[in-house]
Amino acid sequence: MSTKATVEKLVSLCKRRGIVFQSSEIYGGIGGFWDYGPLGVELKNNIKRAWWKAVVQERDDMVGLDAAIVMNPTVWKASGHLDTFADPMVDCKDCKRRFRADELARHVPASAHGHAAEAPILRCPECGGELTEPRMFNLMFRTYVGPVEDDASVAYLRPETAQGMFVNFGNVLQTTRKKLPFGIAQIGKAFRNEITPGNFIFRDREFEQMEIEYFVKPGTDEEWHQHWVEERHRWYLNLGLSPERLRVRRLDREELAHYAKDTYEVEYLFPMGWSELEGIANRTDFDLGRHAEFSGRVLEYFDEETGEHVVPYVIEPSSGVDRLLMAFLMDAYDEEEVRGETRAILRLHKDLAPTKVAVLPLSRNEQLVPPAREVWALLRPHWMTQYDDAQAIGRRYRRQDEVGTPYCVTIDFDTLTDQAVTIRERDSMEQVRVPIANLVAALREKLD
Ligand code: GAP
Repeated sequence: MSTKATVEKLVSLCKRRGIVFQSSEIYGGIGGFWDYGPLGVELKNNIKRAWWKAVVQERDDMVGLDAAIVMNPTVWKASGHLDTFADPMVDCKDCKRRFRADELARHVPASAHGHAAEAPILRCPECGGELTEPRMFNLMFRTYVGPVEDDASVAYLRPETAQGMFVNFGNVLQTTRKKLPFGIAQIGKAFRNEITPGNFIFRDREFEQMEIEYFVKPGTDEEWHQHWVEERHRWYLNLGLSPERLRVRRLDREELAHYAKDTYEVEYLFPMGWSELEGIANRTDFDLGRHAEFSGRVLEYFDEETGEHVVPYVIEPSSGVDRLLMAFLMDAYDEEEVRGETRAILRLHKDLAPTKVAVLPLSRNEQLVPPAREVWALLRPHWMTQYDDAQAIGRRYRRQDEVGTPYCVTIDFDTLTDQAVTIRERDSMEQVRVPIANLVAALREKLD
């Protein structure tokens, strides 16, 4: 990340360029909810695609799943979320602001839910007022299924996608006939009624998770845990996150969630400090064991080699798309002086860039528009593209630099005679002349 990146600049860029908008903005917004604009949805899809490719498509031991958001409420009893998925909350008696007591008490990693406050905080950090005693607040959103709103119809929006994979363990095993070790991957929305959402899209009430439940033979879990920590760390580096702003940290015993034997976090150095992008937990046989107990079903694996039935252990790499998107944007943001002007630039990895190629006629001259539109039509089947003919060419290059477009293709008056165009590269600003007939191949070499 360049030292020029700040959360304020990022929020402004995201709004101005259609990456992230405040949800329901025309009604004053709603805390902890965000909408992704035309460029944001592309960036988000690219992050999800890169993850799916690495953890499902390119592996022979992984399969995908897309489970429902609302599940039978007993799932949350079995998983422990109904009893323990809570944060300690305090209110200021004067200004009525609400805080997470554990965050006031000490700087804890963002997702360390389920831990009681260690010591009561005496004063409100905003107004100095007196605070209430901490009380536990369950983070799950409640709703009702069906037309009657009574205790029997209570259901919850899932706070993690993980449980969909545990309860489908038997279905997946039976239909895919996978042998241990194997994993299930899922991308989907999760909901948490966070007491203090904030830091832009870092901590939301509605967000998207990318989770893996990797089932292994007990006794091999520690080895597989290390495998996934290394794999996942490498994935971030491959997508260009600065190594000096990325670290892997093993959690202390008292930071572990109720289901975990051991957990590592991949953390990024945001302006607000080192913060979790992904947790990689050894969940042991906790979840399968609990679901077997609560459902009465057998959730075991028959090991043909030993002739034994085993309850697999689970390694869980779990990340959040919104948080990753913020990290990739912060890391890519840069500013540099070019010919006496400041150029803002997103040095995004080409796989993540929302738009891969921008098509820019030198001007709106009526001779240039038809070939420019033809070039645009030529590229659209291959990549996400943009056509821009408003204002001077220099300004249009800057607009594309600011949203991370790796290549601009310029159609000028020479194009009318030589049937060639100029490809301009974002980071170096170098330009090469390429015949239109070779344009797709030339860009493919650079982009694919
Ligand atoms: N299944 C395990 C689990 O959900 P977690 O550490 O609570 O573990 C995993 O969440 C990831 O989900 C986090 O590393 C983070 O990237 C993302 N995440 C969690 N809570 C979030 C929130 N309120 N807003 C945005 N992302 C969140």
